[in-house]
Parts: sequence; structure tokens; C-alpha cells
Amino acid sequence: MSNKTFMMIKPDAVERGLIGDILKDITDAGFKIIALKLTQISINEAQTFYSVHKERPFFNELTSYMSRSPIVAAFLEKDNAVSDFRKLIGDTDPSTADEGTIRKKYAISKGENSVHGSDSDDNALIEASFHFSGREILS
Ligand code: RTP
Ligand code: MG
Repeated sequence: MSNKTFMMIKPDAVERGLIGDILKDITDAGFKIIALKLTQISINEAQTFYSVHKERPFFNELTSYMSRSPIVAAFLEKDNAVSDFRKLIGDTDPSTADEGTIRKKYAISKGENSVHGSDSDDNALIEASFHFSGREILS
């Protein structure tokens, strides 16, 4: 099993000045940041990144939201990273997320839910390569 996961702080959270709070929660939970950047993705890039959801009814809403303002992208390292990070962020919908999770604390809605976390080791590597060149990742 890989010990890396990829995450983003989504536009709603960057817009509300939550970059520092969310990165603190992540490092306090034992994740090491091995790559980090503030960037903005185009609608085309959002459509590529979330192409697995292209048939879903929320696809247009999701890709407009993800491209409307800056995001933070990070590559993280920890034992059991993918699964532990998804536990730390909580359910997709903040109304059903556990107390203390990042989405419970900060998310606005199921759509505007403040953070992304990879759902598998393979996708963590694919998503990190989408945002980072090799020399931007600490070894
Ligand atoms: P993510 O990929 O962003 O970490 O989120 P996730 O695994 O918890 O949820 P996923 O099913 O992969 O959905 C991707 C993102 O699409 C938006 N969404 N909106 N309005 C809706 O019903 C709805 N459902 C999903 C969210 O931004 C979700 O994180
Ligand atoms: Mg997902």
C-alpha cells in the first residue's frame, strides 16, 4: 500500500481565508506535506480532473465551482494516507460528516465541501502528477 495521498483546498475555502486553518488540521493529524501550491484550474482542466463524474447531474456545477477561483493543491505522506485522509475530511456532505472532521468544520454544502481527497493509491499518483512536476515533490 502506498503512503501518499493528494488533496486540494477548494475555492469556497480559499475564498473564506481558510488555507492556514485547513493546513494546520492536516499537519496536526500527522500528514507531512511533500508538495504544495496555490493555483487556479481552468474549466477544461476541471473537466479532465473530474472526468470520472462526467455523466453525473452535478458535473457542470462541480467543474464551474472548481475553476471559479484559486485552489491549493498538496501531496501528502503518512502511513495509510488515502484512507486516513478521507477519515480526516469526513463525508462528502457536511451535514452527515462526523464532528471534528474538516468538512464538518468548514464545508458549506455537499457541492462546496472545502476539500478534496484522493479515493485510491492509483488516483493519488495520477492526481499529484496532474498538478506537480517531479522536481516539485520532495523525496
Ligand atoms: P472529492 O472527490 O472532491 O474528494 O469528494 P468525494 O470523493 O467525497 O465525493 P465524489 O463523489 O468524488 O464527488 C466529487 C465532488 O463533487 C461534488 N458533488 N456534488 N451536488 C451534489 O450532489 C454533489 N455530489 C458531489 C462535491 O464537491 C464532491 O466533493
Ligand atoms: Mg471523490
